[in-house]
Amino acid sequence: MARFIDELKRTHDCGALRAEHIGQEVVLFGWVQYRRDHGSLVFVDLRDREGLTQIVFDPDLGREAHALAETVRSEWVLGVRGRVRSRGEQWSKKESRMVSAANPNLATGEIEVEVLEATVFNQADTPPFEIEDVVETREEIRLEYRYLDLRRAPLQRALKLRHRVSQAVRGYLSGAGCLELETPFLVKYTPGGARNFLVPSRLHAGKYYALAESPQLFKQLFMVAGYERYFQIVRCFRDEDLRLDRQPEFTQIDIELSFINQDDVFALVEGLIVEIWRAALGVDLTERYPGGRFPRLRFDDSMRLYGNDKPDLRFALPHVDLTALVVEHGGGGVPFFAPIAERFRSGAYRAELPAEIVKALVVPASANLSRADADKLEQQAKSMGAAGLARAKVGPGGAWTQSPLAKSVTDEFRLAVNAVVGAQEGDLVLFQSGRAAQVHTVLANLRLHLGKKLGLIPEVGHGGDFNFLWVIDPPLFEYDDEKQQWAPAHHAFTRPHDDSVPLLETDPGKVLCYRYDLVLNGFEIGGGSIRLHDPAVQRRVFATLGIGEQEAQEKFGFLLSALRFGAPPHGGIALGLDRLVMLLAGAESIRDVFAFPKTQKGTDLMSDAPTEVADVQLAELHVRVSERVEAERRAKLQR
Ligand code: AMO
Repeated sequence: MARFIDELKRTHDCGALRAEHIGQEVVLFGWVQYRRDHGSLVFVDLRDREGLTQIVFDPDLGREAHALAETVRSEWVLGVRGRVRSRGEQWSKKESRMVSAANPNLATGEIEVEVLEATVFNQADTPPFEIEDVVETREEIRLEYRYLDLRRAPLQRALKLRHRVSQAVRGYLSGAGCLELETPFLVKYTPGGARNFLVPSRLHAGKYYALAESPQLFKQLFMVAGYERYFQIVRCFRDEDLRLDRQPEFTQIDIELSFINQDDVFALVEGLIVEIWRAALGVDLTERYPGGRFPRLRFDDSMRLYGNDKPDLRFALPHVDLTALVVEHGGGGVPFFAPIAERFRSGAYRAELPAEIVKALVVPASANLSRADADKLEQQAKSMGAAGLARAKVGPGGAWTQSPLAKSVTDEFRLAVNAVVGAQEGDLVLFQSGRAAQVHTVLANLRLHLGKKLGLIPEVGHGGDFNFLWVIDPPLFEYDDEKQQWAPAHHAFTRPHDDSVPLLETDPGKVLCYRYDLVLNGFEIGGGSIRLHDPAVQRRVFATLGIGEQEAQEKFGFLLSALRFGAPPHGGIALGLDRLVMLLAGAESIRDVFAFPKTQKGTDLMSDAPTEVADVQLAELHVRVSERVEAERRAKLQR
């Protein structure tokens, strides 16, 4: 029988020992973080997921153990039996006296363990990078050796945080009467929403499953089936372009509730978020949000003031819409405003055409932007697709200086703009005009850029750090320019506001709906809606979308049938667990809170997925690769 593990059980983890344990005999298991030879003594920092403990191999106390210690290297796996002792005192040259040898930076810094007996469970190759909190190694290498990267404390902290969040979610939601139920991953492909991953069926030649992009339809079926309150911490799959806050498979906290309205969903989610913050960080959000209620902002206002539907409200810098002013002043003498004013005058805009707008953003004088800084902003705007970034510095008496607009702008328009944007002397006014979507995107990005550049965003942990916001009342439809028809802004099963229902046929662009997003520090951390359970209104929504009975049946058949069998009023939401943890951890990228993430290109550098598969496997799945890919494959094999 092996002495360690079978006989000698671990008594403590490597982060546990304190002064109060001095004199106790302990058994520790872990990995060698550092080894230092001090004459006859060998010091090893032993690491496990809970921390580091200094262990001392002294030949006078354990001859065999000491001999073993001379051979060990970084990342070897050891077991030790020893006695806890004080780190005692050491001579300080600087202070010319004996001082405590304790390490105040380490939780176990007061003690060390003198080894009586030790074993090597396993040796280790030299790792390709040091297992340190901060490493310079490229992310590609860290992802290739993710199991080593995962030994590093920042990742261990992030994954432990994830664990606490998941536990808090389960506790809270099941306490709130939600049942944790599962839904299939292999589902029927349905159009709309994110692009799906497809899985070929072996048993049904030429047919495909989709990997579920979310449990949406199934959770609604649970409501139809009378389960009333559901939740699931669930993987979702989306074949989208990846960003810092996106992964192709990610985790949702998915919730669906019956016999509720929007306020009920908000109350449940706000309670959940408060509980998560308490459990994960020990932070009481109710101090900042009395009663645990988060502010709400209408979608329209969000677009008008910040140019997007997930504004970071840790700082102000709102946009100012000048369109009405520009129209009123016939362009105000600004050459590129004039045609916009004219198109409004001549009634060129129909509701379904994306209207043009003119917006301004004021950079306060206190920002002290130089001309060169302003030029850089213009470059930035151009890189986002803007034609340029007109600007005016406000001088004495409201004059515009350093501005190509100064020559031609009319005095009335200039003064009116100064008044509307509230510009003071020294402020820099930035203008953007053109198609609404473009103007919004450019100015929304500039606002964020300026927020960071001007130091307006408090760092996490310095007050004002977690800024929650509900964005509500968005339009149900958006106009698809290419197809020249209305499309659901989110999905076709969102309930319109009652007072919007009469507009379904007459003015679809004005139909608002019960859809909501939860925003934290400029990230969308959740989204959901109250569902449309009334078949009569559903038919009218489909009609606006140009979807006939037969097409609806083909696309959404089983949900539509289910909704006819006594569907209760219901609604729900899904929170992005990974994004939540990313923001809780103060991480820069979602990959830093994922155990095994994919790269920006959707590859797994450790296992090398995706890979080619053998011809027989493809044949079994009734899949043939295209001639182009086949030729590339053959060429690769020949190389
Ligand atoms: P939605 O598509 O808004 O809603 O997704 C909900 C939340 O999931 C997160 N999220 C992602 N996180 C990481 N990587 C991704 N690729 C990714 N995509 C989305 C976001 C988002 O807010 N079925 C609906 C919910 C409902 O209506 O109840 C849904 O999936 O934080």
